[in-house]
Amino acid sequence: CSSKKEAPAPAAAPAPAAATKPEPLKAAFVYVGPVGDAGYSYAHDLGRKYAVEKLGDKVQTTFVEKVAEGPDAERVIRDLVAQGNKVIFATSFGFMDAMVKVAKDNPDVYFEHATGYKTAPNLRVYEAKFYEGAYLAGVVAGKMTKTNTLGFVASFPIPEVLRNINAYTLGAQSVNPKVKTKVVWVNSWFDPPKETEAAQSLFNQGADVLLQNTDSTAVLQAAERAGKYAFGWDSDMSAFAPKAHLGSCALHWGVYYEKALNDVLGKTWKTEETKWGVKEGMTDFVKVADFVPADVKKAVEDAKEGLRTEKIAVFKGPLVDSSGKEVLAKDVVADDAWKGAVNFYVKGVEGKVPS
Ligand code: GUN
Repeated sequence: CSSKKEAPAPAAAPAPAAATKPEPLKAAFVYVGPVGDAGYSYAHDLGRKYAVEKLGDKVQTTFVEKVAEGPDAERVIRDLVAQGNKVIFATSFGFMDAMVKVAKDNPDVYFEHATGYKTAPNLRVYEAKFYEGAYLAGVVAGKMTKTNTLGFVASFPIPEVLRNINAYTLGAQSVNPKVKTKVVWVNSWFDPPKETEAAQSLFNQGADVLLQNTDSTAVLQAAERAGKYAFGWDSDMSAFAPKAHLGSCALHWGVYYEKALNDVLGKTWKTEETKWGVKEGMTDFVKVADFVPADVKKAVEDAKEGLRTEKIAVFKGPLVDSSGKEVLAKDVVADDAWKGAVNFYVKGVEGKVPS
């Protein structure tokens, strides 16, 4: 891994009483990929920069990139605490157990973990409703597919990723009931060659519009070469595939980072589970391609507005899994417990969830 320090933003004017000026709050960010991935880690780093811009010299931030999930993460996080950081943001699911251990040993440090579920008095979790972006991509995909076969390049079979596969399919089915989704698992968050191979395999199986829950632009670029369609994920990836790119599921982590740092600065920090979506300005669907027909643009704008106003819920019954069993009764809107336990494909997703 590699790390980079950034000096605090310069104050607008020289401080009159420098001696009494509080020290900046030191916060560190841990990324699983390179900040240059143009996807997930890049989006978190944009969020870090946004918070710095908002909070100025009240904060001083550092990041470490390319940190493997597992023992390496624990070492990196301990090191960041030893360097005097008072807030640690660990931005990938697999950092969870390392965060639990290091938080236990450092009660005076605030720990923030995306996208896990374990909390403690000084450890809390946050995540974007990624699945709302996946649903919006599905609306576009359902209208644009010619083969009625969508493809999904998946990372790890955890509820978060299964929710996204299902949401993509449900969004597509909301406009095109004939749609089916095929899935290829790559067991990695960031592995461009594997992501490319998975995309190719989906094209070979007849899929013509792909979404991915991986961090790079590889799937989109594979679609560009194959003359098919795909989406940006995590950030605006439109520049990487002008012919294939239909739109991007983009995340604005900065709104949370500003809030979280303000909680520490204002001494209002408490253990919480934050899950923000379109409504809170965290999840968005951006840069719909110019060539997308007007009725498709309207369908996705309407769906986005429906999510923002909560007139649409992505997971609302009746929902049936791929074996035909009811998983959510008619008119019931899924709660967090339901969403946290998703271990199935909805009807229309082909194959079996890996065990
Ligand atoms: N990329 C790397 N880590 C993660 C994660 O925890 N969630 C998602 N959605 N993408 C990731």
